[in-house]
Order: sequence, then structure tokens, then C-alpha cells
Amino acid sequence: MAEKPFASHLVAWQKCHGRNDLPWQVSDPYRVWLSEIMLQQTQVATVLDYYRRFLESFPTLADLAAAPQSAVLACWSGLGYYSRARNLHKAAQWVMEECGGAFPDQRQDIEALPGVGRSTAAAIAAFAFGRREAILDGNVKRVLTRCFGIEGFPGEKKVEQRLWLLAESLLPDEGIVAYTQGLMDLGATICTRGRPTCEHCPLQADCVASREGRVGELPTPRPRKSIPTRHTVMLLAQSGRSVWLERRPPSGIWGGLLSLPEFADSFAVGDWLARQGKGDVLPAWAEFEHVFSHYRLIITPLPVRLDSLFADAVREETGEWVALDVAPDAGVPAPVRKLLLKLARSAGAGPEN
Ligand code: ADE
Repeated sequence: MAEKPFASHLVAWQKCHGRNDLPWQVSDPYRVWLSEIMLQQTQVATVLDYYRRFLESFPTLADLAAAPQSAVLACWSGLGYYSRARNLHKAAQWVMEECGGAFPDQRQDIEALPGVGRSTAAAIAAFAFGRREAILDGNVKRVLTRCFGIEGFPGEKKVEQRLWLLAESLLPDEGIVAYTQGLMDLGATICTRGRPTCEHCPLQADCVASREGRVGELPTPRPRKSIPTRHTVMLLAQSGRSVWLERRPPSGIWGGLLSLPEFADSFAVGDWLARQGKGDVLPAWAEFEHVFSHYRLIITPLPVRLDSLFADAVREETGEWVALDVAPDAGVPAPVRKLLLKLARSAGAGPEN
């Protein structure tokens, strides 16, 4: 058997059964970097379209750096985790200003870019520059904990350190691109979280979890912690064929995106309306839930129709009236987009004013 059976089995399998036609399988570091950032919290099938459109808008790192942040966020709209887009933009400007536009080619330097952790930096270094670096994302943690029967929640420092050492020890001397892609492909298509297809796995003969019937137990799940619930009323203020949108503060949830104004309750909406003009608060739409990593947000959408605006209701510094037919694509968070689409549909062929 080869000196490193884990790597050689994986590489042979990747070449026959792995994914070899993904659009970011190129050596341009800008394209590789963009894909790795998009793929951090999003599946390949969703990323494909966003990736294509992002590159149409910003074909090069220089184009991205020169763009206004609002244009970058608008292009990211619907992908979620918007700090990824803000960091991408900041990092592009940094590379243009500090590196003369040349993307860093060492893992440690790539890791210094905002939004790039060790595993992402390693993937970029391997794919774009052929560097012999180890990746360790969620999928790879699953493959390694199962294959080597490693107990303990992989997000825990001690377990993670052990996995990094293991990941480094497994690296092949050659063929880093196919190896790295193979690890990702195996985790995404065979060694999946639910219903893994071990009978197709190139590592099955050596897999501890498969041999001991522990595939369903590994990786050890995160110790349970409950997350708090918050409530918010989202105002759908309509005036003619326009809706009132406000830009959120630059940091925090949905930072920098246009969104619907939020209120603690419907009484506060009544006060808002009284200051803006003459109109009606309409019956609330059904509340729904949006889950963030650290809290659950219960959203009550409250439509308000303004028949006339007071002359002194000038609030341009906080928001703007946006035409209903473009508002859903104005760079808003995904749940807000759904509300705006529904509002646009319900406004239908309503009267202009
Ligand atoms: N997930 C993270 N990086 C990836 C890549 N380069 N190809 C496919 N899936 C990925």
C-alpha cells in the first residue's frame, strides 16, 4: 500500500468521482477567494448563480475594490451573512492599496485578510497557488472524526487542535489540489451529515466509525444551548407604489443593508404614522420566525397605507421611498425581500399617486 493510504485513496476517488467542473476550479486567486467566501455558509447549488452574477458585476479584484459598498451588498442580497460581503470589499481595497493588487500567495498572509480564517486561507493557498496546506471546515471535521473515530465536539478547542494536527499529518506530498477538492467532495456527497453512503466511500475499509457502527454518533454534536427569542414589528409603509426603506447601521445584524423600519410594538407604529401623514394601519400579516445563530426573531409585518404625507415629514437622512417593483432587489435581507415581494403582489394594479 502507498505510504499515505488516506490521501492516495482520496485523490484516486476525486479524479473519477469528484466534482471537476465547478466554475471556480481555476488558478485565479480572486475567483478562488470569492468562491471560498461564498461557500463558507452556503451550498454549492445556491452559490453558482450568485458567483456568476458577482463576477459579471465585479470581474476583477480592482473592480470590486473600486465599487461602492452598497453595490457589493446589493449583489450579495439573499446570500445571508453579509459581513462576508463587507469583509470581501474591505479586503479587496486592502490588497489594492497595500499589495499593489497582487493577491497574497502564502497561507499566513491570506489569513490576515478580513473574513478569512485558517481553513479558508489554506483552501485558497492550495487551489490558487498549489501550496501544501491543510483545510479543516465542518465537512472535513466530519470526515476525520468518523474515519479516525475521534470523540468530542469538534468546535471545542482541544478537539479542534487535535484535528488540525491530524489534517496536517495526512497531507500528500503531491496532488494538493485534487486532495483538497477530494476532502470537500467526500464531505459534501458521500460522508454527509444524514444518510452517508458509506458503500461508495473510498475510505470505508479504514473508517473507524463504519467498522464500529458509530457513523450516526460522530462527529459528537454540540452541547445543547438554548437561544433567546426576540420580537419585532416590521413596518410596510406604502405610499402610492412606493415603500419606505431605511439603511441599517453599519455593524450588527444586516449591517449596511436597506431594510424595513422596525418597532417594538404596533403602538409605536401608530406614533410614527401620526408624524408622517394621513393614512391607516392595516391588519397585521401572519407573524413568522427568522433564526440567526444567536437568537430567534419573531417578525410581525404591519402594513400601513399613507394617503397623504405631511410636508414636514422629511426623513431622507434615515430612509427613502423606494418603488415597489425595485424594492425587493435593492439589497435587502432575505426575509425582508419576501415581505416586499408579497407587498408588491398585493399592491398589484393599485392606484398611482
Ligand atoms: N466548499 C468550500 N469550498 C468548496 C469548493 N472549492 N468546492 C466545492 N465546495 C466547497
